[in-house]
Amino acid sequence: MKLKRSKSTLVSLLFLAASVSLLAQVGLAVKQEDFKTSEQVAFYQRHRAFADGVAKEGQLLGKSISASQTASPYSVLQDSVYLDGHTLVASVQHGADKVPLKLNVSFLEHGIVRIRGQEANPLKPRFDDTQKHVLRDGGANLKYASADSLSLTSEVINGQTVHVVAFKDANSTASFRMTERPWSVEYVLNNKPSILLNSKGLFHFEHLRERPGADGEVDGEADGAWEETFRTWKDTKPRGPESFGLDINFSGFEHVYGIPEHASPLSLKSTRGDKDAYSQPYRLYNLDVFEHDLDSPMALYGSIPFMVAHNAESTVGVFWLNAAETWIDVTRDKSSTLGNLFRLGTGSKEPSVSTHWISESGVMDIFLLPGPSTADLYRQYAELVEQTPLPRSFALGYHQCRWNYLDQADVLAVNDKLQEHGIPYDVIWLDIEHTDGKRYFTWDSGKFPDPVAMQQKLAYNGHQLVNVVDPHIKRDTEYPIWKEANDSGYFVKNREGTDNFQGWCWPGDSSWVDYLNPEAAAWISKQFHLDKYNGSTPNLFVWNDMNEPSVFNGPEITMDKDIKHHGGWEHRDLHNIFGMLYHKATADGLRTRESPAKRPFVLSRAYFAGSQRYGAVWTGDNAANWEHLRASIPMVLSNNVAGMHFVGADVGGFFGNPTPELMTRWYQLGIWYPFFRAHAHIDTKRREPWVFGEPYLTHIRDAIRERYRLLPYWYTLFREASLTGMPLVRPMWMEFPKETSMFAEDASFMVGSAILVVPATDADTSTPIDVRLPAQENWYDMRTHAAYVGPLKRQFALDLATTLVFARGGSIVPTRERQRGSSELMRRDPITLYVYVSQTGTATGKLYLDDGESYNYQSGAFIERDLSFANAKLTSRPSPHTVSSPEQVDFLAAMSKVRVERIVVVGMRNALTNAAVVENGQTRNIALTYAGSKVDSECVIRDPAVLVGNDWEILLS
Ligand code: GLC
Repeated sequence: MKLKRSKSTLVSLLFLAASVSLLAQVGLAVKQEDFKTSEQVAFYQRHRAFADGVAKEGQLLGKSISASQTASPYSVLQDSVYLDGHTLVASVQHGADKVPLKLNVSFLEHGIVRIRGQEANPLKPRFDDTQKHVLRDGGANLKYASADSLSLTSEVINGQTVHVVAFKDANSTASFRMTERPWSVEYVLNNKPSILLNSKGLFHFEHLRERPGADGEVDGEADGAWEETFRTWKDTKPRGPESFGLDINFSGFEHVYGIPEHASPLSLKSTRGDKDAYSQPYRLYNLDVFEHDLDSPMALYGSIPFMVAHNAESTVGVFWLNAAETWIDVTRDKSSTLGNLFRLGTGSKEPSVSTHWISESGVMDIFLLPGPSTADLYRQYAELVEQTPLPRSFALGYHQCRWNYLDQADVLAVNDKLQEHGIPYDVIWLDIEHTDGKRYFTWDSGKFPDPVAMQQKLAYNGHQLVNVVDPHIKRDTEYPIWKEANDSGYFVKNREGTDNFQGWCWPGDSSWVDYLNPEAAAWISKQFHLDKYNGSTPNLFVWNDMNEPSVFNGPEITMDKDIKHHGGWEHRDLHNIFGMLYHKATADGLRTRESPAKRPFVLSRAYFAGSQRYGAVWTGDNAANWEHLRASIPMVLSNNVAGMHFVGADVGGFFGNPTPELMTRWYQLGIWYPFFRAHAHIDTKRREPWVFGEPYLTHIRDAIRERYRLLPYWYTLFREASLTGMPLVRPMWMEFPKETSMFAEDASFMVGSAILVVPATDADTSTPIDVRLPAQENWYDMRTHAAYVGPLKRQFALDLATTLVFARGGSIVPTRERQRGSSELMRRDPITLYVYVSQTGTATGKLYLDDGESYNYQSGAFIERDLSFANAKLTSRPSPHTVSSPEQVDFLAAMSKVRVERIVVVGMRNALTNAAVVENGQTRNIALTYAGSKVDSECVIRDPAVLVGNDWEILLS
């Protein structure tokens, strides 16, 4: 035992030495050789060769018809098509290999179409549990269209049999068309074939097969199919080839978005064809990429295979539900005739984006989402993967993190300093060094002799603690967590399935709990309970890092693909959901550690579609430079586009030392990200807000205070997301869907629908910043209240104190203006309302409040007000979601002293003098004041004293 212990210490030391030398390279680019390019991925190459073959054959066939019309070898078997309730069934077969594939096309409510495909008679099952872990209720309760709302007709057009399913209950003009030879699909929306499958003929399905005998030849197409080596790592591929690929084409669209995580622009660049295209496809494969590149389609820590296409008429989406390694090529066809079948000979030319998706294993499972509005699209997507639930309200505050706060005294000193400098914060974080030798769930008792007392001290002013709890479990027979997991057989197994898989991570030699095993997941959840996790209190929350998983000595710094999980499944099948399964188990543990349950807070680095249900994510290890600051904007936006709303980037940049200017600008940007945390690498200098001295301290403090001022707005946005699935931070196209010039804009963005942020992302404060204020709308500088009328392009000068943030005319923004040390201390503070008047003198907004921690809101314990301003009258009405219940009565009682203390109406042209306040049937008059107004057109109602929970109206005259 002793020997083992010292061996693993040695490994730790070796590893530490290796990581220190890696860290010495800060400032250098990613170690490209650690990660595969598409040329090093056999299944991608086989599909590439297939696709190139199809394209070539198509060219030979001449230009009059599209390549796909005859070049795809896959056809629907005659007489195999029928409608079975809400599902259209068809058999598709490759002309040469004659292995029939079963396609099930299911029609769901809201026009969602689901297409699933695999062998009709598979030699062995394909991994099909991704849906169980990703879809709402594991996919069990999807809402299908009623069978009698669907009708199937089959007709022959231009010699081609076409099966058409028309929808009666969705978009009235929607129809789904499937051609037989070759197999292809058109989702026709608004009379236009909008989403096309296999129209380029790239569909290719590697059916499961027996391993060729010793003398058997592996056919040319199956290169690297039964074994593949990357550097020194061999992938034994016991199941052989089982990948599939399909082209999905968005006709009439120029812009596609989403499929995070990549450090790339918001509007996805092409990966082939264009002269400025990337030389590699987008890759989805959760990886720990040290010092990752910018402007790159390389895989990063998270993967969400959800792509959104937008044009001035509509927004549509494709959700490719697969947890295996996936590559996506994007090409643009500026003037092609896609959807040719129905427009053959019409010569209709439209821009289009062609995408080619290739996954290594699993079942083909695709959802087509018709939109047509953004709100429709996100309702549809949330129908599938659920919304973002309401987080703990403290989680929206400021998070102070670093690798590492040294000890208990250090933590309390940072807490004191923040308070001394009047900087509100909610959470202080402890990284891996807080543990006893990277044994998670333990403390280094020398440094943290009394963690409970420490947490209680923090809690006194409403502050929380977050500890990192990574998924690698140190192999140490004296470590109870390892021992119990080992004794119970909970670890992921080696490729033979005979022993625990072993790899290196922070503690040295480690094993990983297999969350695919429900019993193991439930066991790890329990380790977070208060009676199990020594030194934890209800104020302790969790950070799951390294859960891609990061395995320092594994291929591409992760697990070998052929190692075994519960049920005998290979890691390859579930790699991209592995991190999410840990995130879920952790969140479950925190949720159930108290009774009644409280909302958890868990930050995760790895993620997949569905992760939004379990907490927040961040963009991983960025660097302290201006390029990374800029790159964080499209990264945060792309995650929001793909439904991962609660996301941020390490403020300050993880690697390296930010200049005071960069640090200031990073705070000024970071406050506009849903998750707002400062973090730093262990080798960097201390950089808490006060470290930089004046004037930086003041600027940083102002920024953080601005975040706290707007917490009621943020919380209300989360409420909206929890109901509608709408992103919190939004690309400009989402709010201005017809402003074509803004479809690729990713230097500025909207926070909800009311606030436009134009961050300063440059060291230079002497050059003014270009601002575009879209649409025929009023815009108000949120700091000065100066009014502008859009559409407007203008330059704004900018000193380091200034951030360009504009309120959109027509919005009402709730705030809390009193300075406190934490969001918890603001819970019962009065509200201020800002009414930013539109060109027609109106405005609307919402305010949502609940206890910020329990689930009582699910039984009505909340206040949700619809606020509207028209004809100089501001009205507060309960939102239609309001329900009366005992819980609601209790909550209203708890909030009975919370009032609106100030209303600022910005943009009123008339000189008004009086506010008549009507509440509880009584009217009182208050003189309006202009004292302290920032601009002439702004009036202030001081202390209208209306309660937030009451109905009231205020008429200005
Ligand atoms: C990883 C994380 C980083 C953390 C470090 C040590 O690099 O991304 O945030 O500080 O590990 O735990």
